[in-house]
Amino acid sequence: MILDGQQASSIQAAAQALAQGRLVGLPTETVYGLAANADDDAAVAQIFTAKGRPADHPLIVHVADAAAITRYAQTVPLFAQQLIDAFWPGPLTLILPCLPGVAQASTGGQGSVGLRCPAHPVAQAVLRACQQMQPPVWGVSAPSANKFGRISPTTAAHVAAEFGDDLLVLDGGACAVGIESTIVDCTRGVPVLLRPGAVTRDAIEHVCGQRPLSKEELAAHTPRASGTLLAHYAPNAKVRLMTARQLQAAVEVLDSDAPAIAIYHRSPLSTARIGRAGSLHLRTMPASAAEAARYLFGDLRDLDALQVPLIWVEAPPEDSADWEGVRDRLQRAAAAG
Ligand code: TXA
Ligand code: MG
Repeated sequence: MILDGQQASSIQAAAQALAQGRLVGLPTETVYGLAANADDDAAVAQIFTAKGRPADHPLIVHVADAAAITRYAQTVPLFAQQLIDAFWPGPLTLILPCLPGVAQASTGGQGSVGLRCPAHPVAQAVLRACQQMQPPVWGVSAPSANKFGRISPTTAAHVAAEFGDDLLVLDGGACAVGIESTIVDCTRGVPVLLRPGAVTRDAIEHVCGQRPLSKEELAAHTPRASGTLLAHYAPNAKVRLMTARQLQAAVEVLDSDAPAIAIYHRSPLSTARIGRAGSLHLRTMPASAAEAARYLFGDLRDLDALQVPLIWVEAPPEDSADWEGVRDRLQRAAAAG
């Protein structure tokens, strides 16, 4: 059931459902989440069942404001506080040392907790309403509202398509950011970028005066993280990344036996020399990194819905930090095929 997230009654219904241990499809500025009361282990267990997610992949706990951190995190290093001051509410998740005994099902009991304060007004309203419940709900665990390994949802309709009509989904419109939050591990003494997103490596360096390490640099120590598995965001079609030049060359040698192909490109593509353009489905990727992120998952879903066996994607610029999040998601969509 999809409810209008603008309505106060919908916010109240969602907060009550969460307080009663039920799941809610929740809009955030990044992607839609499948939310449960973070402190209700049975409710959180339902998330893992619904998603088909392995139990050893910890969930992000969403909080209404920075003050709620003290309910989950043991300590906040200075650089983490600087990141909070600069980017919360917003698309940034921090991994912090966990208080003993809290949110066990979400954290997998591994001594750290992922915390994020989302900026989306509907998510904010629900988190605030949750704090008013009796007893209060201080944190809401929410992975992306998709089946494990599939494309993350950026509209309420995507969530309903994935989980059916029984799930209460708040419609908060299309997600403005479009890819999941940046994740910074703050338990290593230095910031470690576990997942690139809208808050870029450059922006993190600017705020805390040190460049975040890549997870490769700390590979031996990183916890397992589903949003960081190589093969993820898998459309049914096989995704191939190519340069603009490779794409143009590949298109020109297609013959009449070639399968239908969807092409997601930024650079102009000349189809003048193609005899069988009918079975090519072209879609343009936005030219800016932020716009490309916003439309990425929806466009991949649309192209996949054409039921083509192949999606050819023009690879994003290699050298730009702004494109790191989109590049990461496309590489993992391609690795899944
Ligand atoms: O933008 C987002 O972050 C979205 C929206 C709904 O907020 N949520 C999201 O959740 O992407 P999910 O579960 O799909 O990805 C969470 C990632 C996973 O890769 C998980 O392993 C990692 O965060 N994570 C959570 N807690 C962690 C922890 N304590 N240590 C290491 N990684 C953690
Ligand atoms: Mg996910």
